[in-house]
Amino acid sequence: MQHPGCVWQWIWPHIGPESPNSKRTGVLNCELGMSKTFDIGLERLTGGSGFSIGTKNAGVEFGAAAFEPLQGTIRGTFFLETFGCQMNDHDSEKVAGVLLSRGYRQVESPESASLILYNTCSIREKAAQKVFSRLGEFGVQQNDGRIIGVLGCVAQQEGEEIFKRAPWVSLVCGSASYSKLPELLGQVEAGNKRVTGLDTDTDETFETPVTRRDNPWRAYLTIIEGCDKACSYCVVPYTRGPERSRASESILTEVRQLAELGYSEVQLLGQTVNSYKDPTARGMRFSELLLAVADEPGIRRVRFTTSHPSDFTQDIVDAIDAQPKLCNHVHLPVQSGATRVLRAMQRTYSREEYLEKIAMIRGAKRPISITTDIIVGFPGETEEDLAETLSLMDAVQYDGIFSFKYSPRPHTPSLAMSDAISEEEKSRRLATLQETQRLIQTAKHEAMAGETFEILVSGKSRRENQWSGHTSCNRVINFTSQETALLGKYVQVRVTGATPNCLAGEQA
Ligand code: 5AD
Ligand code: SF4
Repeated sequence: MQHPGCVWQWIWPHIGPESPNSKRTGVLNCELGMSKTFDIGLERLTGGSGFSIGTKNAGVEFGAAAFEPLQGTIRGTFFLETFGCQMNDHDSEKVAGVLLSRGYRQVESPESASLILYNTCSIREKAAQKVFSRLGEFGVQQNDGRIIGVLGCVAQQEGEEIFKRAPWVSLVCGSASYSKLPELLGQVEAGNKRVTGLDTDTDETFETPVTRRDNPWRAYLTIIEGCDKACSYCVVPYTRGPERSRASESILTEVRQLAELGYSEVQLLGQTVNSYKDPTARGMRFSELLLAVADEPGIRRVRFTTSHPSDFTQDIVDAIDAQPKLCNHVHLPVQSGATRVLRAMQRTYSREEYLEKIAMIRGAKRPISITTDIIVGFPGETEEDLAETLSLMDAVQYDGIFSFKYSPRPHTPSLAMSDAISEEEKSRRLATLQETQRLIQTAKHEAMAGETFEILVSGKSRRENQWSGHTSCNRVINFTSQETALLGKYVQVRVTGATPNCLAGEQA
């Protein structure tokens, strides 16, 4: 039986899923008979202000004073809905910080907001369509005085076209222009009805003095924005612009502040996070940055996602081996197991080269869990190519996968290739892939019975004594404990049962 809130695809931290995060609720109700949801699903925190558990005051993290409205005036209320990946989630946290410090108050429904913002995703067509259906909902009410803005990848992709399709939109801003957001908001507030931020030729990153973080234990930090790779199916280089790394000192200063605020886990984000190049004279390598972040007092766990195989080097594995605070999980998208398809995808590595990276990771002194992304139905993919992907999965034994049907995107090289594989056939290939992974995960989970893991507790069931949290290798375990105040704490949990998608345990 499928448990939609509980499949790995929903659980792993990831750059890419297309659901709006405000809809990504309801986790961990696997075969434990738990009532509907835990209070919080780690990777699907809402962009709204309804986050209500934890040791800190829901995301007001630089202290309430940081969000004192300018000159004490309340400018209005905002509603912000986020679609897509963790980069988008975190961009929204920064956008919310900008708005709160400008004197806006966050509300939970568009109906009660004077400013409505959609932070959009265009990685696959379905995700991009969602924003237009949201915008359509406002078509009939266009003259009610509310300001509507479209942010993120669809904004960058469609540009001023959005004003034509939805004339009630006043702001269109892609993520590469977010450093200008305060200025653009100023123009909107001054009554300008067509404000755009669509430049991508920037070397700036989006750094804000305040960020309204949703998760009270795990803080996300973007360390590199944009992407310089040119995968033929991917719209990200177009929508997010060229790669820009953030200064190491600025990253470390923020980590220090986060630790002082009580965060014990940080997750470094980037489309190709391991391509990080410190732009300052210090010239830190990615692995050195990982170690420096882990050295900050108060930090107990450091994660990073997403890694690109071509830039994944031995020193990263050595750093994980040397520093237990670096979590033993690597998300390493392969996309296909067939070199022929990888070449057509312009992925810059072959099947054999990818497997060498896996061997490097498997050579670590402690086990490192490996997850991946796979696309099926890329133009020209044959049955033999699919068989190669399945055999690669068997060889690697992934701990989790995200799998996607190929979706042709505007501004991408593969758009010109004939997309002759039918939707039905793509679905069939996806199902085959997922069944292969289900068997792998079942065996892996069964082998974990009796093992003990350290968990950062982040969820509490409505049911008595039921909790959940993540291991260092980023598995979710639902467990029982008689203790009453575990949220935000690290505890030892012994695995007592498993399904393909869930682990169950008890506090050791
Ligand atoms: N079609 C399907 N999947 C895609 N991805 C990126 N672009 C596309 C596309 N056009 C997937 C890749 C990537 C993940 C974030 O989304 O697997 O790693
Ligand atoms: Fe897209 Fe490839 Fe860049 Fe990932 S590495 S964001 S798949 S272009």
